[in-house]
Amino acid sequence: MSSSNAPSFASMAALLLGFCVLSSFPEFAMGITRHYTFNINNLTVTRLCHTRSILSVNGQFPGPPLVAREGDRVIVKVVNHVTNNVTIHWHGVRQLRSGWADGPAYVTQCPIQTGQSFNYNFTVTGQRGTLLWHAHISWLRSSIYGPIIILPRRNESYPFQKPYAEKTIIFGEWFNVDPEAVIAQALQTGSGPNVSDAYTINGLPGPLYNCSTKDTYELKVKPGKTYLLRLINAALNDELFFSIAGHNLTIVDADAVYVKPFETDILLITPGQTTNVLLKTKPYYPNATFRMAARPYFTGQGTFDNSTVAGILKYIHPSHKSSHKNLTLVKPTFPPINATNFVANFTKKFRSLANPIYTATVPQTVGKKFFFVVGLGTFPCPANTTCQGPTNTTKFAASVNNVSFNLPSVALLQAHFFGQSNGVYTTDFPSTPLVTFNYTGTPPNNTNVSNGTRVLVLPYNASVEVILQGTGILGAESHPLHLHGFNFFVVGQGFGNYDPNKDPASFNLVDPVERNTAGVPAGGWLAIRFLADNPGVWFMHCHLDVHTSWGLKMAWIVLDGPGPNQKLPPPPSDLPQC
Ligand code: C2O
Repeated sequence: MSSSNAPSFASMAALLLGFCVLSSFPEFAMGITRHYTFNINNLTVTRLCHTRSILSVNGQFPGPPLVAREGDRVIVKVVNHVTNNVTIHWHGVRQLRSGWADGPAYVTQCPIQTGQSFNYNFTVTGQRGTLLWHAHISWLRSSIYGPIIILPRRNESYPFQKPYAEKTIIFGEWFNVDPEAVIAQALQTGSGPNVSDAYTINGLPGPLYNCSTKDTYELKVKPGKTYLLRLINAALNDELFFSIAGHNLTIVDADAVYVKPFETDILLITPGQTTNVLLKTKPYYPNATFRMAARPYFTGQGTFDNSTVAGILKYIHPSHKSSHKNLTLVKPTFPPINATNFVANFTKKFRSLANPIYTATVPQTVGKKFFFVVGLGTFPCPANTTCQGPTNTTKFAASVNNVSFNLPSVALLQAHFFGQSNGVYTTDFPSTPLVTFNYTGTPPNNTNVSNGTRVLVLPYNASVEVILQGTGILGAESHPLHLHGFNFFVVGQGFGNYDPNKDPASFNLVDPVERNTAGVPAGGWLAIRFLADNPGVWFMHCHLDVHTSWGLKMAWIVLDGPGPNQKLPPPPSDLPQC
């Protein structure tokens, strides 16, 4: 197989790198068990002429791909060899009745401490495509991230043309300084954190940055072929536009769910989103190379990393081994940095396949309705100190329904499972905002938020609708909201304030896209629905890490159902202690 992501390649790489993939057993309909070892260790990396020690998995940056077929069980032994506390989250994996393996620190587990290890054990059920894994504590995911590749079952094929080869393109964000120091300082002073120094494709910044021409990702292709690109945005704080000059891309999968294919020359991918696209190469060798590039979509008022990562699409010449000199370089074009209408039109193109094989199980009726106001806000500056928030008497904060969420010092899931919520969390997270205002109009004078560890409890199998209403407080900003443990259907979206009398009439309950991360439009709202069929504690947060750090996060508790297969099993014996 020519795919760089095929299991055979992964197994070889795995052996070389000291982790093993037991994929040699006959594969039954049940799927096999794949074993991985992720050693967390330090790695010295130079980018942009800055050398830094970063945290890595198995000394690789980006980290190694986790490859599985739908139906397989995956056991990843994570061993912490560094001084930081670590957890790994398998972003987008449903974790059906395996919530102990989800990974967000202080939500489903205590962190893995230095010298300790934990076996993440889960089965990939009903998902095919691409996801990502990443550290889920503080900002460690800035360097601890990698692809999750979910292949169809062995006897199944893609619902689109079989690609000639598959390639993974994972976007990241590079800091010349330690990102842990960046966020620590920002939380201390109340300021917006310093921005990254570069974006990367597969860890490489490319020729538009200092000292980086040698660090350029090259995608070598043959003419007349169809390639499957697995795109992943693992950047910390930036939504990205991506384009390959001279080529259209056909989107076929989003967040490991097949979608109705559509073509685009520019796509948007938010942190936490993944998408598979088909790239059809030119029928004949072109006398040109084509730049691929990504740059941010930014709607906020603060500073941001306004740089561009570039890679190169190179055609392999049919007769010559070495590439031709003096080829024209074709460059892509991009919409403006704050092209919110472009983004809205683009995101509306995503539709579930919704055919008899790949159905869209959209909840048609709703048992539990919630209205969440999401956006920025402030905390007052502590007495006798000067802060660097929006004013020198305030710190930046962010909230859901005016609650800036505090992580507890023990894990929510353990507290819930053992009935020890006292002093850890309360179950009074507001279902609707306590104070209503013109959310997308003139902001209120008082922008202070409250804080607490408040959660919402859902009965098993509740069908849930959440309206996520963005605010204009400190700028109408887009928020890529991520829900753990579920995929949700995006049944509606719009600009301005959500109108409960008028807007539901336009909801798509037939073929809405099903994903785990979706952008709440800048100055608008998003309507999502999901079925709470997975018992556990499930984090929901903005996938811009700066907003998560400021408190734009909350948690759902989904109770056990009555049936034997509707209960969360007890924790694994090696679950880390706090
Ligand atoms: Cu990808 Cu809670 O995160």
